[in-house]
Amino acid sequence: MNERLDKILASQGLGSRKEAARMLREGRVTVDGQVVRDAALKADPDGCVIAVDGQRLIFRKYLYILMNKPAGVLSATEDSRQRTVLDLLPEELNRRGLFPAGRLDKDTTGLLIITDDGDFAHRMLSPRAHVVKRYAARTQRSITDEDIAAFAAGVQSGGDRFAPARLWAGEEDGLAFVEVTEGKYHQVKRMFEATGNRVLQLTRVQIGGLALPEDLAPGQVRVLEQNEAARVFL
Ligand code: URA
Repeated sequence: MNERLDKILASQGLGSRKEAARMLREGRVTVDGQVVRDAALKADPDGCVIAVDGQRLIFRKYLYILMNKPAGVLSATEDSRQRTVLDLLPEELNRRGLFPAGRLDKDTTGLLIITDDGDFAHRMLSPRAHVVKRYAARTQRSITDEDIAAFAAGVQSGGDRFAPARLWAGEEDGLAFVEVTEGKYHQVKRMFEATGNRVLQLTRVQIGGLALPEDLAPGQVRVLEQNEAARVFL
């Protein structure tokens, strides 16, 4: 489909429409090898080769960004006082319409997907999709066989009954892993509390078949190809 060049460049996270128009004026953009300076010129990003500073643009309809969320930032799009995960994105990726697909608490770290693909997020978060989220939890006391059985049966907390969850011990004392298929408010913390334990530190390490890369430091991001993001449904 033909689109204005400034719109195409902005949609790829290369800056605002105004910044894209400046890149064009500066002669940094080529279409099929020819320098193009007119932001209003229309091109079909699937049918031609667009390059910026000699680098070919691989056209992405949607962005899927994997973040290792650090503690202390909100999983929200904006907040008047506190930093959000979008504030951590490099400028060239922070395009309009991005949002975190699901929330982690302010003090929870780990795997978060930031996207502008509403259908993807909706599918991933739908309880009917049963996407498994795996967390590593440091807890006040080590887990017991009774805790494992209680999680497997479905923990009751206040008025809520959580769906059965898999719980197992990590190699270190006080480290446990839990897999849940729902995304209720403070779910993992509340499940541990219901068994007389307390979460001291929580990290999401996997969603479906997509794992948090071990070499990705807190606050860092990686852009995923669509087929990599789709691993959450495996
Ligand atoms: N469960 C929690 O309690 N907190 C999170 O951030 C995610 C799952």
